Amino acid sequence: MNAHFISEIYLDDIESRGYTIIHNAITKSLIASLMLDCYRINPEFSIAGIGRKNDLQVNKNIRKDKTYWFDGSSQAQLDYLALMAEMRVVLNRNFFLGLFDYECHYAKYLTGDFYKKHYDAFKGRSNRVFTTVLYLNTPQAGGELVIYKPKTKQVEVCIKPQAGTLVMFESERFMHEVLPAGDERYSIAGWFRMNASISGVIDPPR
Ligand code: OGA
Ligand code: MN
Repeated sequence: MNAHFISEIYLDDIESRGYTIIHNAITKSLIASLMLDCYRINPEFSIAGIGRKNDLQVNKNIRKDKTYWFDGSSQAQLDYLALMAEMRVVLNRNFFLGLFDYECHYAKYLTGDFYKKHYDAFKGRSNRVFTTVLYLNTPQAGGELVIYKPKTKQVEVCIKPQAGTLVMFESERFMHEVLPAGDERYSIAGWFRMNASISGVIDPPR
């Protein structure tokens, strides 16, 4: 397994416009293993934002998905993390970044679940640099990821989730949202982070 999917074309996309969409980024067999992993841990998915009690009510209006943070408890998770570790090296080499770490969770959207417009990071308030979203299944309808042009309300791109598609974008630059899912929608949302010594500040709801 290697990060063959991150070719020059995608690096050029990231450089010129801050995001890229890579179809069939991950082998079908790894996608299948990650999906099975989701079914295995299914009862343990929890409401996003749980544990931060004061935010919970707010979060329920913003997002309805359930998440499960990677804990390295399956070979599938380890394989995916290994790919992202390779990706991190490629990004650091090409963009002279000091990305030091990657965190991710599975996300499950049931029919009607959504995630309203948000940023994954705010300038000086988070150390998330790049967002990644990998789709694990292909819903029949809905659940599109809409990415907005920086500083406008205009749509930059609307992405139909498809098993194996990997989307990457600059976390601080793009407001985005997930439209209500038409049926079950499984994905992995992740963030490459940079050490920015911002103590005591938490990331936006996740
Ligand atoms: C997120 C997110 C997008 C998607 O989890 O922060 O924006 O398409 N996910 O699932
Ligand atoms: Mn997001």
